[in-house]
Amino acid sequence: MIEAAERDGRLKPGGTIVEATAGNTGLGLALVARAKGYRIVLVVPDKMSSEKVLHLKALGAEVHTTRSDVGKGHPEYYQDYALRLAEAIPGAFFADQFNNPNNPAAHEYSTGPEIWAQTGHDLDAIVCGVGSAGTITGLSRFFRRVAPHVEFVLADPQGSILAQYIETGTIGTAGSWAVEGIGEDFLPAIADFSSVRRAYTISDADSFSSARQLLASEGLLGGSSTGTLLAAALRYCREQTSPKRVVSFVCDTGTRYLSKVYNDNWMIDQGLLQRTEFGDLRDLIGRRFEEGAVISAAPGDTLLMAFQRMRLADISQLPVLEAARVVGLIDESDILLKVEADPAEFNAPVTSAMTRSLETLAPSASREELRRVLDRGLVAIIADASHFYGLITRFDFLNHLRRSLK
Ligand SMILES: Cc1ncc(COP(=O)(O)O)c(C=O)c1O
Repeated sequence: MIEAAERDGRLKPGGTIVEATAGNTGLGLALVARAKGYRIVLVVPDKMSSEKVLHLKALGAEVHTTRSDVGKGHPEYYQDYALRLAEAIPGAFFADQFNNPNNPAAHEYSTGPEIWAQTGHDLDAIVCGVGSAGTITGLSRFFRRVAPHVEFVLADPQGSILAQYIETGTIGTAGSWAVEGIGEDFLPAIADFSSVRRAYTISDADSFSSARQLLASEGLLGGSSTGTLLAAALRYCREQTSPKRVVSFVCDTGTRYLSKVYNDNWMIDQGLLQRTEFGDLRDLIGRRFEEGAVISAAPGDTLLMAFQRMRLADISQLPVLEAARVVGLIDESDILLKVEADPAEFNAPVTSAMTRSLETLAPSASREELRRVLDRGLVAIIADASHFYGLITRFDFLNHLRRSLK
């Protein structure tokens, strides 16, 4: 895309590249821009993992974050936003991967021949996702020429309109999904689906667990769209009645998704990892003590240790535990009160600042009792005479309610 724009004069030395991207096209463009001395401005939807955004910024990209939950025509839709920026910056080149014919051309003349050579010209099917549709369109063109029997299989996240379009020719209403890089709420202008023979709709839960399974059984750390592709590839393969050689992709390294796909706490908050249900307040606890997930302080820890632990985990209070019993609670205002006059107090023990008068709720307490505790600005400590189970914050309550949203 960049070389073509240089050739036809749309991108001049020292110019600016603008693009709307789920992250990876942006990473590619940012690398090229850095090497060739262009300014790079990217618009990224806010569901994208922070690893990608930090990587883009580290490469020198100017990143504009926008809403993930709005569709084409909305001013904050990432592609409309990028187009506006491109129009406002003099001489800017809008890479426009969703409409740029040089996007599929790159796959037609590089990815396709690479797969064909690496499979030794022996291939029956390719399982592919669609973001911009560059990959599927370019590969379809290449294989139509060299091996027209190769069938394409679409792996589509639940909520995307593409699988339904391929199966019925109709465009439904798009939902939302957590998998990054694939699935669409519109038909990209460059899309050529004429070689697609089968389409599978894959839920976020299936995509994420397939990615985790790929790591557990094969040692391959892939990203979230890799999970969608693998789940669809397995379904396709299991439906076959004769042996097939099937290619799919590990589109992205999982290191960009460590804070999501490979983070149990995030997966639990999103309702993507099943936990034991108790039918009482324990179901609302975000980090369960019995699962070793509670971040806590010991009475002898210093205030500095407690503060750093809170910052690292992005939480604002810690239970103070002694032999698996809660003896206190310490939050950021307790620490502030203590150290404001004299920062040396950071070295004082947690016991010097923690709250000792604790109100606990038994797991069997009602939602109303929980609400009364939270409404007073407190966190609920869930414990009975023998056990501490964990805390419930307002965030945990909200996460629980969101998980029940179908
Ligand atoms: C992780 C990931 N998977 C899949 C895709 C989809 O590829 P395409 O845009 O060629 O359809 C992308 C696109 O950037 C991506 O970033």
